[in-house]
Amino acid sequence: MNQMNSVSADTIGGSFLNDAELTLPPRPRLPPEIMMIPYGAQGLLFEGGDGNQLISGRGARSFIPRLVAVLDGTRTLDQILTAFPGIPQAKVFGALALLYSRGLLEDGTGDGPIPEGMTESAKFFGRYIDATRVNGNRHAALARLAETHVALCGNGASALAEALECAGFASLVTPEGPADIPDRTGLLITLFTGEDDAGIQEWLDTAWAQGIQTLHAHLGADKVEIGPLFMPGASASPSCFHRLRTKAPQGNCADPGFWAGIVALSAQSLISRIGRVELYNICHIHAGDSYEKLNLARLPGSEAAGLGHVSPPGSDPHNVVWRLHNAANGMAPRELQVPRDHQMHYSASNISTARERPAPHHGATPFALPDERPLSNRTGNGRIDLPVLATMLRHAVGYDHAGRRIAPSAGGLGSANLYLVARDVPGLPRGAICHYYAPDHRLDYLGTVTDEELSGALGTLAQDLPRVLLIGASDTDKTQKKYNNFAFRFAQLDCGVARAYLTGIAGHFGLPMRDYPGLRDRSMALLLRLGIRAGQQIVTFAAGLGDGAHPGRQLLPALRPFQAVTQLIELSAHDGPVGSPAMIVPDPPIWSMAADPATLLATRRSQRVFDGLPLAADEIAMIFREAQAICDTLEKTGARHLRLRFRAIAATGDGRADIVRPGQDGLETLRTGVTADALAELTIQPGLMEAPFVLLVTGDLHHAVDTAGARGYRDLIGRAGAVAGHTLTAAWERGISGCPWGGMCESGWGPLLEIDRYTDCPLFGISFGRTGAGHG
Ligand SMILES: Cc1cc2nc3c(=O)[nH]c(=O)nc-3n(C[C@H](O)[C@H](O)[C@H](O)COP(=O)(O)O)c2cc1C
Repeated sequence: MNQMNSVSADTIGGSFLNDAELTLPPRPRLPPEIMMIPYGAQGLLFEGGDGNQLISGRGARSFIPRLVAVLDGTRTLDQILTAFPGIPQAKVFGALALLYSRGLLEDGTGDGPIPEGMTESAKFFGRYIDATRVNGNRHAALARLAETHVALCGNGASALAEALECAGFASLVTPEGPADIPDRTGLLITLFTGEDDAGIQEWLDTAWAQGIQTLHAHLGADKVEIGPLFMPGASASPSCFHRLRTKAPQGNCADPGFWAGIVALSAQSLISRIGRVELYNICHIHAGDSYEKLNLARLPGSEAAGLGHVSPPGSDPHNVVWRLHNAANGMAPRELQVPRDHQMHYSASNISTARERPAPHHGATPFALPDERPLSNRTGNGRIDLPVLATMLRHAVGYDHAGRRIAPSAGGLGSANLYLVARDVPGLPRGAICHYYAPDHRLDYLGTVTDEELSGALGTLAQDLPRVLLIGASDTDKTQKKYNNFAFRFAQLDCGVARAYLTGIAGHFGLPMRDYPGLRDRSMALLLRLGIRAGQQIVTFAAGLGDGAHPGRQLLPALRPFQAVTQLIELSAHDGPVGSPAMIVPDPPIWSMAADPATLLATRRSQRVFDGLPLAADEIAMIFREAQAICDTLEKTGARHLRLRFRAIAATGDGRADIVRPGQDGLETLRTGVTADALAELTIQPGLMEAPFVLLVTGDLHHAVDTAGARGYRDLIGRAGAVAGHTLTAAWERGISGCPWGGMCESGWGPLLEIDRYTDCPLFGISFGRTGAGHG
């Protein structure tokens, strides 16, 4: 049976009030092509748009048709809200928001005559306006086409010209050679066949050098390539494409007219922005019945792609990690972004995913946690017991007594999980492995583990094992459903946030802590009975608590008599770090000084709309200082050395902003007078750029991969998550709210910060500001 996802008008109405990216059309109109049909006893079915929508419930049949009658695109929002005197305006607003969120409204503003020959296209655009929401209405989409001059080249150009004849473009030209591409060209389309592709590189290189966007297509007898869209300064360059593509299509294509039609449709959707076109850093390869996607990336060594100054990391000569990073996380520049992608947070299926209770570890024995040690009680002398652990677990990945997750997490999905191995905790068997089941704030006992197994999985010596080991793991079930390929990055970021909370509480209670960078994920997953793969769990970190007292056996810095061979075998079995543990007590975090730290942590919430007042210089200095402090602390506990960099957008109060970074003698200003438009290039949520202060976290991906392969990459992202978790709580202590954002358009970061986006790779953004409502 088909499962229907449902969402209420009140939920959607509330979302519009709290999210700057959601706004109703100024003059809402139900596109006349969409049909409204009574359905069942109470419902109304809307048919003809991007998917069928059923609106039902009390009053749907009586009120919605009356509402629809005034949605003709001539009335303003205010006029509509006041058109129903007997009905509270909030209800009318909720119903409008619901219709809009279901893709049933376009904007009547700026309606004009439809250009000749475009009547049918206009109707289609009206019905599918919601597929991207880039255009307010069909006229906006038509205007984009009418403003764009298109040039065609290659031996398929005439077939293309025929297919594009009625597409609505300003002009179509077929230049003689690359030198003849007109300056005003908004899009060059190259359509070659395998027979005759001489000169293709020259066309692509010339357009790239002239800053002209180019859509590449190549037809062969057995293979057809559509894409990529080359975007000079942003995407992979033509030379990167030629390095990554195995072999160009060969031979004569049997049906060039069909493929020219497909390319024409892609070009029309690309420019009108009416449909989703995935062509940025992607080449679609159709070979007979099979389809393949070639993901592209700017490659180290490519001068044109801005990476001529760096060669591939020695440990990853084929740039596999970097290419995977791009394939999983690459987001097109803002000009290709689709507001619908952010608004999918309010889709019925995502709202219900967020509400789903995570599954417990089935078959485990539940174990109630005792009362927590209050954060106000710091007198434990570094003692580690169950009450302390209960406090740590709840704050890092758990929920408060009202059922709200305390720490921030991507999409509020709470992907970060914690497992615990107790080696010396009163009340738990030695070697007990437990999963913290956050929704019920309890431990699920999974069994025991020996020191040998544990040290093997940690890549360390048994003598370096801690009293308690906390293992971070991300449950990607929900994040994969909602965010797809972003799941790996969000797993690391979420667990990085949890890590910052754990480190903060360790510092607050004076508990020694250390990192285990040699952690072997697969071995640890086996011990924890975890399936590690996409859609399941990802092991992210291991942190030890409490010094190594009560080791499984005597500390053995010296040689064991008569056991030279055994000892050598043991030592050589470890390829992780075998040095002495860097167990330190972290410095207490800033929130530690609050009169009531528990309330402070529990009241932090992600805020996305700010009062606009700039932060004071000492507050800016504090955020920069704390960003660096958590990195330093983690490295002191033995975590891998990584090169993170911090810059920020500091609003100047006149609608503009400066780009700043911490310098030797205070704040260093890198740029002044940056406009809101330039800032909007950084993200799919430009509203978050209106914050008074936006911390931009970048890191040296090349160095991380060079020194530690994919593990270095993963740790780099996790570190950015820790920076977010740590700075958000530090700022909140001063009454400054914030919101981390993972929806980055990294191509926008390059020109703004003058970075190459590789040795200085965008990792995370965090917007800070006041909302006028502090934590009191
Ligand atoms: C890794 C991560 C990524 C996030 N990305 C975004 C984002 O792109 N946009 C946004 O508005 N909020 C983002 N958030 C904030 C979450 O939506 C927010 O933390 C979550 O809904 C829980 O709400 P709370 O922070 O108020 O407790 C992110 C949070 C984390 C930890």
